[in-house]
Amino acid sequence: MAKPARTIEVQALVEELQAGCERSFGHARSMPPGVYTSPEFLSLEERDIFQHEWLCVGRASALKTPGDYLTAHIGAQPIVVLRDEQMQLKAMSNVCLHRMSVLLEGRGNVRRIICPYHAWNYSLDGELRGAPLMDRQEGFCKESYRLPAVRCEEWQGWLYVTLDANAPPVHTQLASIPAWQDEAHVEENRRLYRQKFATVVPMLREVLDVEVPAGAFYLWPRVTDDERFTRGLYAEQHVTVLPGSYLARAVDGHNPGQGRVRISLVASVEDCIEAAGRIRRYALRRSP
Ligand code: FES
Repeated sequence: MAKPARTIEVQALVEELQAGCERSFGHARSMPPGVYTSPEFLSLEERDIFQHEWLCVGRASALKTPGDYLTAHIGAQPIVVLRDEQMQLKAMSNVCLHRMSVLLEGRGNVRRIICPYHAWNYSLDGELRGAPLMDRQEGFCKESYRLPAVRCEEWQGWLYVTLDANAPPVHTQLASIPAWQDEAHVEENRRLYRQKFATVVPMLREVLDVEVPAGAFYLWPRVTDDERFTRGLYAEQHVTVLPGSYLARAVDGHNPGQGRVRISLVASVEDCIEAAGRIRRYALRRSP
């Protein structure tokens, strides 16, 4: 489904936020007030963030025995996370299938999920087990009702949920975090990147519009045509960079990555210098 167009007010807020993100840390400013007060900005957050991201809702250790549960919201959607009879973690909609009453509140333990409104009741797997008076309804088949499941994963003892069936697993998204908890690794990595930036940027600055980023592992030089630049560089110098337009999303017809390439500095210092030399030769040859 096509995303609704942003209003001028929301677009201005997004642009102000983006401009803020590009400031160096020393010149950081507060977020614009509209971020906290605009209903349209809230809708944008719910649609673009809460519908797609993994959200941490608590510790797995809080759910120790079958029936232990905790409730949360993903955007406006109430959910419940619990241990089922087999001690498996389950997450599901916390909204009754009858007339949309919220089923459970806060935290606690239940043997069955019983709706406070008309007492429809569900197993810890979300299957509808009882629906008072519905046996008078011809053709009603309670076996065909179940609370919609929500994706739930445990990562390092934390519980994560998402409404997005296609979101990459949490452990994939957060794979680098254990390395960042290693202070010696962080210090060494910072030293290495300072060295790479200090060496590579002056080499490239002679031929490309490139700056040391305020905080990142990549360089984002401006080029005339990011896709052509990338193809040509690989064909002539066997150096791989990525077109910025492949990495960013077009929003309202504008792709912020267009006209930039992403240069990764993950390789060793020596390899980065070698690659920078090749990029320099390529860019020099292209310049009029
Ligand atoms: S709303 Fe839940 S049983 Fe009626």
